[in-house]
Amino acid sequence: MQDPLNTLRTDALSKLAAVASPAALEAWRIEFLGSSGSLKSLLGAMKDIPKDQRAAYGGAVNALKAEIEGAFAEVKARIEATAAPKDLIDPTEPGLLRSESLGRRHVLTRVREELCDVFSRMGFSVAVGPELEDDDHNFVKLNIPPEHPARDPLDNFYVDVPAPGTKPRMLRSQTSTVQIRTMEQAVRDGGGQLRGPIRIVSPGRVYRPDTVDATHSFMFHQIEGLAIDTDLSMADLKSTLLAFARAYFGPAAELRLRPSFFPFTEPSAELDLRVSLRPDQPPRWMEIGGCGMVDPAVLTACGIDPEQWRGFAFGFGIERLAMGKYGIPDIRLLFENDLRFLGAI
Ligand code: DAH
Repeated sequence: MQDPLNTLRTDALSKLAAVASPAALEAWRIEFLGSSGSLKSLLGAMKDIPKDQRAAYGGAVNALKAEIEGAFAEVKARIEATAAPKDLIDPTEPGLLRSESLGRRHVLTRVREELCDVFSRMGFSVAVGPELEDDDHNFVKLNIPPEHPARDPLDNFYVDVPAPGTKPRMLRSQTSTVQIRTMEQAVRDGGGQLRGPIRIVSPGRVYRPDTVDATHSFMFHQIEGLAIDTDLSMADLKSTLLAFARAYFGPAAELRLRPSFFPFTEPSAELDLRVSLRPDQPPRWMEIGGCGMVDPAVLTACGIDPEQWRGFAFGFGIERLAMGKYGIPDIRLLFENDLRFLGAI
């Protein structure tokens, strides 16, 4: 009666030794330990055993069961240890219903970069200047006299009461300050005189104590342009502005210069562009900024000989350009950082 047990033992252990995968192990378990497996049939044979031998037989079967279950547990642990990493990832599982929203650069940043790109392609390099300025650069050298209304303390952010003999400091009210700084630097680099043409654009923040509404903010952005060469004229200014307008708004953009006055340019003009924002909308004129030929007094203030050099300059509101291009109705949307707006634009 021991023989069938020994046969099963040998068979079970030798087959178990050959098991190398979870599937083979499961097949082995069903064959030997399953509900209709070999071990069960040994127990089923109990009824054919003479009564006086049943206890011994039962004990022997139980011992065999314990032995092969122990061997099974060992092999199972070994196989799971090597197969675990594969089993952790089930490529057939559906994806998690979670969408990570990707961030992106603010629309004003994108517009500023696009403007710099457009002007770079026309040979302008990008210059920057400080936001905390003195009134020499914000006003005096730009030919804005002391009695000019633009210098009213109520229209500017002066940051301190100047000690006697020092210049008042202020948050710049226009990026035209960078024209002055660029020309002064070029003259310093030239050892006291300008030695070659200048072509820069300068984007940046400017500050004015305006009451905030749909079109005004106490802080906004401008981009300033300056070109100095020996033979520049209004025609160069106009063709540069038109090339810019078409690159930024598309080839159908039209341009209009309206005579105006700025202390730092003579002649001066307001620049309007006529653009069609959507194919279903008629084109409309919008005011973009000011421009003109650099006033000789400004060149002189920077140490540049106006008999030898001429220049043109322009300054645009970046918010205006962004609102015009993207149909943004209210300037406050640009500063509130509402994700519903930022994600849609
Ligand atoms: N600085 C002017 C302003 O803030 C804009 C401007 C007008 C800039 C004419 C220029 C210019 O360079 O030539 O209103």
